[in-house]
Amino acid sequence: MEVSYAARLYWGGAEPLVKIFLDTANIDEIREAASWGVLDGVTTNPTLVAKTGRKWGEVIQDIVALVDGPVSLEVTTTKADEMIKQGRQLAKLHKNVVVKIQMGSEGLKAIKALSKEGIRINTTLIFSANQAILAAKAGAKYVSPFIGRLDDQGQEGMQVVREIVQIFENYDFDCELLVASIRHPLHVIEAAKLGADIVTVPFDVLKKMTQHSLTDVGLQRFLEDWKKVPQ
Ligand code: E4P
Repeated sequence: MEVSYAARLYWGGAEPLVKIFLDTANIDEIREAASWGVLDGVTTNPTLVAKTGRKWGEVIQDIVALVDGPVSLEVTTTKADEMIKQGRQLAKLHKNVVVKIQMGSEGLKAIKALSKEGIRINTTLIFSANQAILAAKAGAKYVSPFIGRLDDQGQEGMQVVREIVQIFENYDFDCELLVASIRHPLHVIEAAKLGADIVTVPFDVLKKMTQHSLTDVGLQRFLEDWKKVPQ
């Protein structure tokens, strides 16, 4: 976890705002978000790549060419030795690649081995604070709690984020909290209020974050009134 907000105020250090990643493999969405100047990185998973209908290699090539920041690419194997092999291959693709590894005992072995080699790992499919503790301890650079999927089954996803923030603030180690499986703008606000380092959002959520009905009404009024100004 990076330094907490309170600690930054106390020490007077720089105050980085919550980082925004796009959770997609859709190039048009990534290009559009990048053009807004607010895109810090991208997360993908096999489901998101499958949705594009495009070949994996081509999609990934396009993404790393467009994004000036971490791009998470997920391993598609389940045994530690295979994950390690695949993780090394993914990391070689581009300097911005972060290898996404699924939580679990095999995943932990792979995280330990790959992070020792300097490969950045994003631990995916995290649903509890205990899983985050283990992933961070194994050397992961990012832990990704899936809050929307917890909400979907009647459990408060944000509670896991709250617990991870609290736990990580007690210790000094290099692991960022990346809030994933975000379903709506309120999730972003809550995650940022808790001090999460990163939110990864679907493009429609990012779009909704730009919008407010009063912005539209206000703009309409300004444009109408501008017409009344003698030129
Ligand atoms: C994050 O890295 C995951 O790809 C993603 O947030 C999962 O979201 P979902 O629950 O909407 O599939």
